[in-house]
Amino acid sequence: MKERLEALKAEATREIEGAGALEKLESIRVKYFGKKGEMTAILRGMGKLSKEERPLMGAMSNAIREELEKLLTEKQEALKAKGMDEKMEGEYLDVTLSRDIIRTGHRHPLLQTKEELEDLFVEMGFQVVDGPEIDTVANNFDHLNSPANHPTRDLTDTFYISPEHLLRTHTSTMQIRAMKEYGAPLRIVSSGRVFRYDEVDDTHSPMFHQFEGLVVGKGITLANLIGSLNIFIKEFFGEDLEIRYRPHYFPFTEPSTEIDVTCPVCGGEGCATCNFTGWSMELLGAGVVHPNVLRNCGIDPEVYSGFAFGMGIDRIAMVKYGIKNIRLMFENDARFLRQF
Ligand code: DAH
Repeated sequence: MKERLEALKAEATREIEGAGALEKLESIRVKYFGKKGEMTAILRGMGKLSKEERPLMGAMSNAIREELEKLLTEKQEALKAKGMDEKMEGEYLDVTLSRDIIRTGHRHPLLQTKEELEDLFVEMGFQVVDGPEIDTVANNFDHLNSPANHPTRDLTDTFYISPEHLLRTHTSTMQIRAMKEYGAPLRIVSSGRVFRYDEVDDTHSPMFHQFEGLVVGKGITLANLIGSLNIFIKEFFGEDLEIRYRPHYFPFTEPSTEIDVTCPVCGGEGCATCNFTGWSMELLGAGVVHPNVLRNCGIDPEVYSGFAFGMGIDRIAMVKYGIKNIRLMFENDARFLRQF
């Protein structure tokens, strides 16, 4: 019996140690300790032993049973831990792994500038209106009091579609359209593409963008123009720059002015960008609306007066962001656009 027990212990130990999975371990446990197990059979056979042998064999088999059970439990723990490790290994996720960065797009700097301008004027009570890029010669020149022999009317300056239609040369057409449609009083801004027969260079393009404003009301004077535009310029470009109003001529305003601000690149010191003048030139054109223009739109200049202004959005954006070449605005080079 003693030999049988020892052989069984050696055999069971070897099997337990060799078990590679929990299921296998369970079948080993059943093989030895199950109802029909080998160890169970030995323990059951104790009764047949002699009185002298029984306590000895009983103690020995109990010790072996305890030892094997301990082995089984340890192996079970080890297999469970191993299973967990393998599972973790299989589901391993390296959160430091870099992925392709997806760039989100954004508004073109021109559109950003236009929307910024609109927001500022909407805050000041202006209404945003929109109109066509092909307009009549009347809306572009005649009603704006442009003399019949004005040089901008020339075929070499303006793209004509027909004798009566053209690609608008400025957004001032929208002054006429708005006054005819809404009458007085009125406070509008409008923007969009305009076209001129220009050679392309660093600051010129045959297509560019303008932003136009018009106020018509009772008792509107040059003082209102200067007050409103000063607020706008300081809001848009910053508090500390200086503003200069220079007398100028436009057919549709009287008096007329061109407005410059301190060059934002050199702060007024003088640099290549501002041609060493210290001023960023011709940022806006403006003036008190000519009585003829009001009259052409059915508004009585004895009752109403107004002021108007116009500016190049491209130029404004170039001054604001220090862009030296207007071509960059239209080439859609992502390396340029990404900066805004
Ligand atoms: N239309 C002018 C231009 O294209 C700009 C301008 C000047 C617009 C004076 C105005 C204004 O409304 O009052 O150069």
